[in-house]
Amino acid sequence: MSVIFPKWTNQIPTIAALSAMLAGVCVVGIVWYWFSPKHTDVGYAPKQPIAYSHKLHAGLMGMDCRYCHTAVEVGPHANVPASETCMNCHKGVRIDSPEIQKLTAAHQAGLPVHWDKVHLLPDYAYFNHAAHIRVGVGCKSCHGRVDQMEVVRQVEPLSMGWCLECHRDPAPHLRPEGVAVTDMEWLPTSDSLSAAAARLEAREIRPPEHCSACHR
Ligand code: HEC
Ligand code: HEC
Ligand code: HEC
Ligand code: HEC
Ligand code: HEC
Repeated sequence: MSVIFPKWTNQIPTIAALSAMLAGVCVVGIVWYWFSPKHTDVGYAPKQPIAYSHKLHAGLMGMDCRYCHTAVEVGPHANVPASETCMNCHKGVRIDSPEIQKLTAAHQAGLPVHWDKVHLLPDYAYFNHAAHIRVGVGCKSCHGRVDQMEVVRQVEPLSMGWCLECHRDPAPHLRPEGVAVTDMEWLPTSDSLSAAAARLEAREIRPPEHCSACHR
């Protein structure tokens, strides 16, 4: 007589149970990964077409970030400057340098410099610079010590878990009035922490945690 259910089929319930467990572990793993602040592109620092240095211009020369990133306070996106902005100085400064000659050539041809993007959120996540700058969150909280970088490098993961970590406890990142958001040296003080706590308590500052705030 032929066997309709060969012996190994006795194992099916066990295999099914094991598979279900494995699938469960995978789902937990995927969720944990995406929601973890550590899911990350930290360290990404593409080589740029012109060896522009923030350490020199923003650090040593002390230029304000907003001289070049003019839109950061007023709109969702921080712009990278047009070569016009650079030429304010480099029409005359270091015209012997091959790097400046690349800049001048692009400028004279009316072509943009193709800077590589360093920080990039996926399209489905909404972010607005001005909303953060307005309440006193400094550039350093999200971009690190750009004034010490020869080449810009991503220092924070920009993951959902990272966004939420600050939204749940923003006080250490909130600067009091009078401290520039571009100040790279600022650290929270007990005064700034209590002032921040008061603004949060008064619901003057309300970082959202609901999904539709960032996924619209
Ligand atoms: C003289 C103009 C200038 C000044 C001043 C300046 N930047 Fe930049 N910034 C640039 C240019 C050009 C780029 C694109 C090339 C690069 O990444 O180095 C850039 C890129 C960046 C990026 C990376 C953008 C991306 O692609 O994700 C960040 C972040 C940034 N700047 C922050 C700052 C901060 C913070 C300051 C002030 C401490 C500052 N910048 C001052 C010109 C400037
Ligand atoms: C406020 C004036 C000013 C602006 C604006 C400015 N620079 Fe400069 N840049 C300087 C000075 C000053 C130096 C240093 C010159 C020296 O070596 O003594 C310099 C040096 C450089 C160098 C190094 C040149 C070399 O070979 O050593 C590069 C590259 C450069 N700048 C690119 C840029 C770019 C790109 C921009 C626009 C995003 C820009 N600069 C905007 C003043 C400026
Ligand atoms: C709360 C976090 C946060 C703060 C504060 C912040 N940034 Fe950003 N920045 C980001 C994120 C996130 C991106 C990537 C945006 C995207 O891909 O849409 C970004 C991108 C940029 C870019 C690339 C251009 C763009 O908009 O994609 C520049 C330049 C920049 N920031 C400069 C600055 C400067 C200058 C300051 C301070 C005046 C600042 N940022 C403050 C989070 C921040
Ligand atoms: C260092 C702290 C900090 C980080 C990091 C941060 N935020 Fe915020 N965010 C805030 C604060 C504080 C507010 C409240 C602003 C207010 O009440 O006006 C806010 C408000 C917002 C808002 C509501 C205002 C608006 O633009 O509609 C959105 C959306 C938002 N954040 C998205 C993000 C996203 C996406 C990220 C991660 C890529 C992020 N934030 C990272 C501090 C932060
Ligand atoms: C403060 C802003 C913010 C809030 C609030 C938020 N998210 Fe996100 N979310 C993000 C950002 C930024 C990313 C992209 C992270 C990355 O690139 O790694 C993301 C990514 C995701 C992803 C990953 C998509 C993929 O590529 O697999 C899912 C799923 C998600 N969010 C669901 C949610 C749900 C559900 C909620 C509400 C409980 C929520 N988010 C609330 C900012 C937010």
